[in-house]
Formats: sequence, C-alpha cells, structure tokens
Amino acid sequence: MQTTITNSVKIAADFIKSGEVAAFPTETVYGIGANAYDEKAVRKIFKAKGRPADNPLIVHIARKKDISVLAKEITPSAKKIIKEFFPGPVTVILKKNEIVPGVVTAGLDTIAIRMPASKIARELIKLSGVPIAAPSANLSGSPSPTNFIHVLRDMRNKIPCVLIGPAAKFGLESTVIDCTGKYPVILRPGSITLEQIKRLDKNAVYQKRTGKVKSPGQKYKHYAPKARVKIVKRETSNVKRETPNVKRETSKVKRETSNVKRVKEAYIGLTRKFARDFEVAKICKTIEEYAKNLFSFFRECDEMGIKTIYCEKVPEKGIGAAIMNRLGKARGKK
Ligand code: TXA
Ligand code: MG
Repeated sequence: MQTTITNSVKIAADFIKSGEVAAFPTETVYGIGANAYDEKAVRKIFKAKGRPADNPLIVHIARKKDISVLAKEITPSAKKIIKEFFPGPVTVILKKNEIVPGVVTAGLDTIAIRMPASKIARELIKLSGVPIAAPSANLSGSPSPTNFIHVLRDMRNKIPCVLIGPAAKFGLESTVIDCTGKYPVILRPGSITLEQIKRLDKNAVYQKRTGKVKSPGQKYKHYAPKARVKIVKRETSNVKRETPNVKRETSKVKRETSNVKRVKEAYIGLTRKFARDFEVAKICKTIEEYAKNLFSFFRECDEMGIKTIYCEKVPEKGIGAAIMNRLGKARGKK
C-alpha cells in the first residue's frame, strides 16, 4: 500500500471521510485514526497495528458538546475534569451510547473520550465531520510515536495517509480516568497527574493493581524497545554494580575521548554522573523532559543496536508516576 505523506489537514480528512485511516499528530503522541462510527474503517486500525481486538480505542472529539452524543451520562466527576482539562492530555471513561459501534470499545459498555489540545488534531476532527477513534500510531507493543519519523517507520505502506506535524509536546499518552463511578479512578497515569485531579475531587485514586483489569490495554506488555530495560536507583548507583565487565572502546567515536565506555548500553535519566560511563546517554534536566524523551530514546537506542537501556527510577509522584508506569510495562512487568 502506498502511503500519502502530507501536511494538509484537508487531504488527511478526505481519507477519514472516505472510510480510510490516517495517522495524525497530537500533543501526547501521534495517533492513527478512523471515523468512529464506521465499523469497517475502525477494523483497519486494528489490522495495521496488529492490535488485539479486546483492547478498546479512545474516541477523539473537537467540541465538548459531542460528549453527550457518545456517552449516556456525563457524571459529576467527569464534568469537573472536562471543565478543567478539556482540551488536553486527558481521557475520560463514561457509559457509552448505542451510536458507538462495539468494535471501538471492544464490546465494553463504556467509552473513552478525549479532546486533544493539538490544533492540528482538532482541525482534522472538524474537517472529517465525525469523532475519530484513534490509538497511538505504533505497531502494537512498541513505544508510542512522538514524531512523524517514528510513525513512518512503523506504519509506512500499512496505512494510506500520514499527516505530519510537530513532535509531541508531552511524549507520553494521555491520563485515562474512569469517571463512571462516584469518584475518578486513574487507569493510566499521564501528564495530568493524580495530584491535579485530587484538587478537583479529593477522593480521586489510582486503580488498585490487583483485581479486575478495567483498562484492557494495561494487561499487555507495552511501550517496549527491543533492548532490555533496567530500572536503576539513584541512591545506590546500581548502574555500576550490575554489569562490572566494562570494555575498552574501539570505535571511531569513542577513540576521540579515550574514555572507558559501556558498549551497547545506554542510560536515560536525571543524573549526569551515571551517564559518563555509557556509549549512549540522555541526561534530562527536568522530569518533564524525561517523560517527553523516553519513547524517542527507546527508538533511537534500538536503531543503534543498544542491548540494555538503564532508566533512572524517579519518585512516583506527579508525572513521575507516568514514567514509572511506562518503565514497568517496557521491562515486561504486568
Ligand atoms: O494520548 C493518548 O491517549 C493517545 C493519543 C493518540 O490520543 N492515544 C492512546 O491510545 O494512547 P491507546 O489506544 O494506545 O491507549 C488507549 C488506552 C488503552 O490502555 C485502552 O485499554 C484504554 O485506553 N481504554 C480505551 N477505552 C477504554 C474503556 N472503555 N475502558 C477502559 N479503558 C479504555
Ligand atoms: Mg498505545
């Protein structure tokens, strides 16, 4: 299949209108979208990604008033979140209306709804004239794409259109919040934090790790690079102790510095002193920068043939909770 690569929102909208899929930018990660009311079109998304049919999609809207078309009831907990954070990097789960085909929600009686902050994404939805069902635009299991190069790498010749735009502002997927109950329950942490949600509703919580999986996507290994992912603590600097066999450098790049580096190993985190030892390293100045760069660093490491990526552990508060959630999935923890 030939892929049209375009920066014209209109061209991408024409694909969506004709029952096709198109990848598009958002402020979180790139998505791959289709008309949410068109069952056949939505099936094409699952096929292109190799996504299990029991993992439901998020429906993207451009106007708040569309929520009441898609959902049966906007609960008080949803109302507060929508008022404060729509448009933005957050998704609310509500009871669904009949109009939404079962393939979108994987047969669940609930629907995930998000209004992106990205103007290009909202323009695409407006021009398409329908809500757009869209998961992240990666092959199932791979790290989500944070720029259009990533999308092309995974989706070129698998989908007919890629709408190109800027790199994602946040770099991690939206915070998914179940609003069907009395208080908000965070199913997937993201850039909108528990602390922020608690300011609206003090009873807000993370979903308990045990028991029934409410967000089916959370049961799969996810966001994983080909390289092994290891989480390292800052305090103990177990970076060094875990693999003591440090090799002499041989390559051209490394000869320049004549330092001893850890070949085929990479580091991402906030602590400069760890980074020195590695062939490849990304030092992030802030936790937001860490979140923004994590997935693209995973992809870069895979391209360079890195075997192990050491990722610095961060406190599970604020956006740190989202980083630790993705790292847990990336190393295969359920
Ligand atoms: O930032 C984002 O959310 C991006 C951009 C493209 O909007 N989208 C995204 O979609 O990350 P996806 O499909 O990769 O992740 C959607 C998550 C999955 O974990 C899925 O199981 C969950 O949302 N989800 C969708 N519908 C649900 C529902 N009705 N109940 C519970 N979880 C749901
Ligand atoms: Mg995804």
